[in-house]
Amino acid sequence: MSAHAPDFLYGTAWKEDRTPALTELALQTGFRGIDTANQRRHYFEAGVGQGLAAAYRAGVVTRADLFLQTKFTYQAGQDHRLPYDPAADLSTQVAQSMASSLEHLGTDHVDSYVLHGPSSGHGWTDDDVETWAAMVQERDAGRTRALGVSNVSLRHLEQMAATGAELPAFVQNRCFARLGWDRDVRTFCRERKIVYQGFSLLTANPEVFRHPLVAAIAARNRATLPPVVFRFAQLVGMLPLTGTSSAEHMKQDLASREVSLSDDEARAIESLVA
Ligand SMILES: NC(=O)c1ccc[n+]([C@@H]2O[C@H](COP(=O)([O-])OP(=O)(O)OC[C@H]3O[C@@H](n4cnc5c(N)ncnc54)[C@H](OP(=O)(O)O)[C@@H]3O)[C@@H](O)[C@H]2O)c1
Repeated sequence: MSAHAPDFLYGTAWKEDRTPALTELALQTGFRGIDTANQRRHYFEAGVGQGLAAAYRAGVVTRADLFLQTKFTYQAGQDHRLPYDPAADLSTQVAQSMASSLEHLGTDHVDSYVLHGPSSGHGWTDDDVETWAAMVQERDAGRTRALGVSNVSLRHLEQMAATGAELPAFVQNRCFARLGWDRDVRTFCRERKIVYQGFSLLTANPEVFRHPLVAAIAARNRATLPPVVFRFAQLVGMLPLTGTSSAEHMKQDLASREVSLSDDEARAIESLVA
């Protein structure tokens, strides 16, 4: 189901008017996975679609080369620019949000459709059960190949599993080194073959950038520190996201694939500040 997910995702949050050009640049630079959301407050999904269209026209990629991921966001996470009727029930909101995403992205299906966050920080609620069932219907109708959840705790995932619901193919979380890089959730995912997507790997972890081990690996590879963190993430089984707006950093982040890091070093980074 998630077999063709690439090893890096380009994140399109917070780019506003630069979204089309940066999306196109990311594709030109070599990214093949794009993450967005139908949440105008933080993402300009229609702008992502414009960037994709420009890349198709220029012959950089075709739709079939890409992994496109977007999200359904509850009203509490949105501003007034809603992609659905707030008076409609949640199942209808999911269907409307998906239809709007497909229009924005100029496609008849996405590769992954993610619940942006559960309705409560404390557990998997009846609203989440209804929303997830609607997302499963979207998948069954062929409008997404796979499903995901984001901003979840182990408790959310365990409660979700306890409802007997189909589990997601992807979990997307902010990844804090001081929490063992989200060790509990990653363990849950690994045991169930769920692909863990990590974001804020750089910004959430300033302490990692001060650590001599990371600096030594970077120096040995003649690399800067961010590619070392991304390579570490891939080696411990994560699918990392970067949202860089810099052409140079896009290249560096993709070049993290070439950073050499031993298994021992990866294990050491895993417990660096936990
Ligand atoms: N599910 C959710 O709720 C959620 C929440 C947040 C984010 N996301 C997704 O994850 C994506 C990434 O977000 P993020 O929170 O990880 O942060 P981000 O927006 O990717 O920010 C990363 C920061 O690191 C810098 N950076 C990246 N590569 C670098 C390099 N090689 N050298 C130096 N600096 C570098 C960037 O600066 P430059 O621009 O100068 O390179 C930027 O300041 C978002 O766009 C979005 O798609 C999802």
